[in-house]
Amino acid sequence: MEGRIKNLKEYKEFRKIFEIFKYYPFYEAWKEQDFKDEFSYLKNNGEIFGWYLNNEEIIGLVSLIYGAKTSHPVSFSNPDKMMYLSDIAVLDKYRGQGVGGNLLDFAINYTNLLKYYEAMYLRTNLNGSMSEGIARSRGFEIIRNNNKIITEEVSFPRTNQDISETDTRKFLIKRL
Ligand SMILES: CC(C)(COP(=O)(O)OP(=O)(O)OC[C@H]1O[C@@H](n2cnc3c(N)ncnc32)[C@H](O)[C@@H]1OP(=O)(O)O)[C@@H](O)C(=O)NCCC(=O)NCCS
Repeated sequence: MEGRIKNLKEYKEFRKIFEIFKYYPFYEAWKEQDFKDEFSYLKNNGEIFGWYLNNEEIIGLVSLIYGAKTSHPVSFSNPDKMMYLSDIAVLDKYRGQGVGGNLLDFAINYTNLLKYYEAMYLRTNLNGSMSEGIARSRGFEIIRNNNKIITEEVSFPRTNQDISETDTRKFLIKRL
């Protein structure tokens, strides 16, 4: 697929990609203000990069946060030297063509270039994760404590009432 990755500046572009979280398999009931808050949070604490087709249409994004998030149940000896890969998302109809992998490679290269970070980490579904395959193929490993996978229970209001509000996440790390 031809296109390029560049800094995502427009809220409406972010909003277009984040819309996917309202539908299968996430069904997270985001309100308009939630999208705005998330965009500001990412802009103030990290970076958002978009994947653009040659006609400038955005089809995916990756976002990074500088430093480990204190809310996560993982402890790092140098939390400020961790890069948190917050989101990686590609519009449904463009998946399976290397765009997600391309965004992940970009995020790793970008973090390496800063020459400050010791590792990157991300949070993903305990089971049925869509990002685990591309992450593992790039050297990410599941974070464990005494051989036990570290997990976090997260809860979201859902757009589909048949889906439980709670699900379980795990963490993957890549040393740089
Ligand atoms: C994860 C995601 C960004 C990958 O984007 P992509 O452009 O399809 O990625 P690529 O084409 O580079 O690679 C596709 C990989 O995804 C995997 N994949 C695709 N759909 C999947 C699914 N439903 N379940 C599990 N893995 C899936 C494939 O195994 C493939 O890996 P492979 O190349 O080793 O076979 C995309 O699936 C997505 O946007 N998912 C929804 C958002 C999400 O779950 N993000 C991660 C948490 S923030």
